[in-house]
Amino acid sequence: MRLDRFLAETTDLTRSLAKKALHRGEVRVNGAVVKQSATRVGAADRVEWDGQPLALVGLRYVMLHKPADVECSARRGLYPRVVDLIDLPKAERLQPVGRLDVDTTGLVLLTDDGQWSHRVSSPRRRCAKIYRATLAEPLAGATLADAVRRFAEGMLLEGEEKPTLPATLVMRSSHEAELTLYEGRYHQVKRMFAAIGNHVTALHRESVGPLSLGTLAPGEWRELSAVEVAEFA
Ligand code: URA
Repeated sequence: MRLDRFLAETTDLTRSLAKKALHRGEVRVNGAVVKQSATRVGAADRVEWDGQPLALVGLRYVMLHKPADVECSARRGLYPRVVDLIDLPKAERLQPVGRLDVDTTGLVLLTDDGQWSHRVSSPRRRCAKIYRATLAEPLAGATLADAVRRFAEGMLLEGEEKPTLPATLVMRSSHEAELTLYEGRYHQVKRMFAAIGNHVTALHRESVGPLSLGTLAPGEWRELSAVEVAEFA
């Protein structure tokens, strides 16, 4: 790759600041000062800026325990963004794999590997996402049996043309529902409960496929292991 791009990929410099650093003679390739931005460098070259060796980072895969009042959006808005919680170089390059609402807590995966992200979120892959929803109204008896059936059959949500994929509803207590979805539509959990006349007052995502939060506390994150990444190969 071009040297200016290599610098932009491995430091906080933009392409134009990288070019300026090159012109100032701050960059060495294999020990010799190089000033031309178009110089090609590869994995075998030793590149240094201001005496610091630089290395390309590979694709990255992270899980985060998202607290409430943190946004999955890439743009800066009212709330801190999930990438603001991740203390990795160039964390803003990581994209959430499917978004949680600002008030939803729980497991968010982030990566800069677009293909992996697609594999995790594609409904065709039928990757199970388990949510814990707190409901405003108790759900039991015949109403619960009806909800279980409607969720399992798939339901038409307002403004949509395709029914939801079969989902599994289990009540953990009168107001605590565990819902397993195999897709990720906009506000899906809240809209499904609204469609049966209830209201979600709190929502938490416990797991995505075989990945769950384990001991990660709200706001904490960790990189996935190679084995975890390969679960979605
Ligand atoms: N469904 C919702 O309604 N909200 C979320 O954040 C995730 C799934």
